[in-house]
Amino acid sequence: PLLDPLPPLPAFHAALGFAIFAFIITVYLVPALGPTFVKARLSGRDLLKTYDTPIPESLGLVCASVYILLLILFIPFAFSDVFLNDYEVRSRHGIVVAEFPHQKLAVYLSSLLSLMIATLLGFLDDVFDIRWRHKLPVPIIASIPLLMVYYAERGNTNVVVPIPLRWLFGVLVNLGPLYYLYMSLLSTFSTNSINILAGINGSETSQALIIALSVIINDLLYLPWPFGFRVPLHLLGGQVELEFGGPWSAGMAYGSRELVERHLFSLYFMLPLVGVCAGFLYHNWYPARAFPGDTLCYVTGMAFAVVGIQAHFSKTLLLFFIPQIFNFVLSCPQLFGLVPCPRHRVPRFDKDSGLLYPSTAELKKAPSALTAFILEVFSALGLIRVATNKETGLPEVTNFTILNVFLVRLGPMREDTLVKVLISSQIAGSVLAFGVRYGMAWLLYDG
Ligand code: UD1
Ligand code: MG
Repeated sequence: PLLDPLPPLPAFHAALGFAIFAFIITVYLVPALGPTFVKARLSGRDLLKTYDTPIPESLGLVCASVYILLLILFIPFAFSDVFLNDYEVRSRHGIVVAEFPHQKLAVYLSSLLSLMIATLLGFLDDVFDIRWRHKLPVPIIASIPLLMVYYAERGNTNVVVPIPLRWLFGVLVNLGPLYYLYMSLLSTFSTNSINILAGINGSETSQALIIALSVIINDLLYLPWPFGFRVPLHLLGGQVELEFGGPWSAGMAYGSRELVERHLFSLYFMLPLVGVCAGFLYHNWYPARAFPGDTLCYVTGMAFAVVGIQAHFSKTLLLFFIPQIFNFVLSCPQLFGLVPCPRHRVPRFDKDSGLLYPSTAELKKAPSALTAFILEVFSALGLIRVATNKETGLPEVTNFTILNVFLVRLGPMREDTLVKVLISSQIAGSVLAFGVRYGMAWLLYDG
């Protein structure tokens, strides 16, 4: 088939260099600026330690600044093909016109805008502890530039219906405005879901790092590598072949330079993010010398929403959020007030053994029928443990977070072990995600 010329890849190599640069700057800047943050009263006590030393908090602001400044510095590299090829396009009348890809620049700039709003919101949250109902709409508004660009590109709003449901809905369902609603909620979800899976050293940063690496692996599958490989799969008696890289890369299989460019765009945003997160994790690892604050959760979450929307793979992206989705669904009874939600739901630290135990929330009054039902179901599923407070006779439940579930299921453990369990679950989630995306999709969707 006739293919567009390949997009040049020097920008990809530059992005790799930027990632290394991001790592080095972050590793250097975080300890250098820590005392300044403490002096500005941006510090917190490590709840799961014996010592009281104030730990500099909201160092995510340093990460976000390094990240956004590097992304701005990268703009000329992202458009290097304009300088290299003069971008000559032959119009229908045979006149040669040089055309600058304004559309691509709009995609890039609107993404930066959303990242900056996320940073602002995250930092304000660190300083003022903003209430839930006040901060929820902000990422939705921050996503409007992204949605407008998506609209300008005539982005897809169809969803393919899985084969078993086609008799009801047909092959394609056009969600129209609902699809835009879904994308704007995606940014709220990705920012907040990382923030509520937090509280032990390294948890926020490692989630962001693994999700970013997963997105990168997914993007790499779409690049036109000089070599290619095919994976034959035998599923349900039928044979399918997954094609990666080379002339068969997924991007080229659709004959589309556009697809390659979208995944390159995603790489430009994800590679430096990995550099920043890896650099920060070095200082945030147990025992933490710096805390990310809400700023890091918001900026990384928004970065994922940005690439998911702009590079048109929001559904694949959601698959990389399996632990966060689980934690969010689990948290709902506490988030929506059916079960009391203490200010901190982090596990309980036992000073004598140095181990973490599930933390608990006490009910203030006899549970309503709905609350009693929820407690029944969640404890039958083994997600929480319910005890009765001896003095009040009211139920006392372990907090509804994935970290407490690990402690309920696996028993008490050290903080650094718990974060490794969390990291393993995130990696397992990503492996499952790739299996669903490239294995199961062939079962549900023909083609
Ligand atoms: C979210 C969670 C909250 C959890 C908190 C921990 C919900 C609804 N909210 O609140 O349950 O307790 O994150 O980040 O689920 N901290 C540590 N060790 C760490 C990281 C943080 O002890 O490794 C403590 C420090 O005291 C730090 C504080 O948590 O100052 C930061 O909490 P903050 O991010 O403000 O909490 P929220 O995001 O509001
Ligand atoms: Mg937080």
